[in-house]
Amino acid sequence: MTNATRAVGVDIGGTGIKGALVDLESGQLLTKRIKVPTPKGAEPDDVLAAVKIVLETIGVTDDDVPLGVAFPAIVKRGRTMSAANVAKTWIGFDAETFFEEGLGREIHFANDADVAGVAEQRYGAARDVEGLVMLTTLGTGIGTALLHDGRLIPNCELGHLEKSGLEGDAERWAAYSAMEREELSFADWAPRLQWYYSHLEFLLSPDLFIVGGGVSKHADKFLPLLDLKTPIVPAVHRNNAGIIGAAALSAS
Ligand code: BGC
Repeated sequence: MTNATRAVGVDIGGTGIKGALVDLESGQLLTKRIKVPTPKGAEPDDVLAAVKIVLETIGVTDDDVPLGVAFPAIVKRGRTMSAANVAKTWIGFDAETFFEEGLGREIHFANDADVAGVAEQRYGAARDVEGLVMLTTLGTGIGTALLHDGRLIPNCELGHLEKSGLEGDAERWAAYSAMEREELSFADWAPRLQWYYSHLEFLLSPDLFIVGGGVSKHADKFLPLLDLKTPIVPAVHRNNAGIIGAAALSAS
């Protein structure tokens, strides 16, 4: 536990790497959000170089400011254990040590959807919600975070659910990237989300769904098209939830 009032959060995604300095009391960004494209192939050395650019641009190089880094893979004791939208090199890779050595400082390292869940639990839509909250991020992939009575159950990978008769998994078919790739309208995309969220609802009986990721800023265009028993709301912090949650976790 630190007494830090500010921390830097960096959110590594399949498409972009984003970061900012975050006020830990309010969860607000204290600097502009910096974003660089995720290097093609997303190999460790290239991702590290891009993270360095983000940190230099934010301009906080002081080691006293905690740094949290979020990554789009299963993260178990600092190791990345999957690689759906990044280089396969990351599988079984000691990523936390790699970033710490490369950046010359301590970091806190976690899954990107998990940290977004933490951000919404501390500063957003999941605050004070009892029972099971399920946050999903709809982006390059589908990230999922489960919170029960405010406690994170890490590394659930429900973006990789499979649907019979369908090639690939849920994220290949229903992520925002699928909508872009196949040039779908919101009306075309909505039945895919309907299947996905109904399936999650059946499997887990959540009390609340929260939808994050870049497309959450257009939530009014697709959430009303869904028919679910569970309330479903956009993430308060939209696509910044990963940055905010990474920062928050680094200081706890
Ligand atoms: C990964 C998850 C990640 C999600 C969102 C998925 O492909 O398996 O770990 O949270 O993408 O980035």
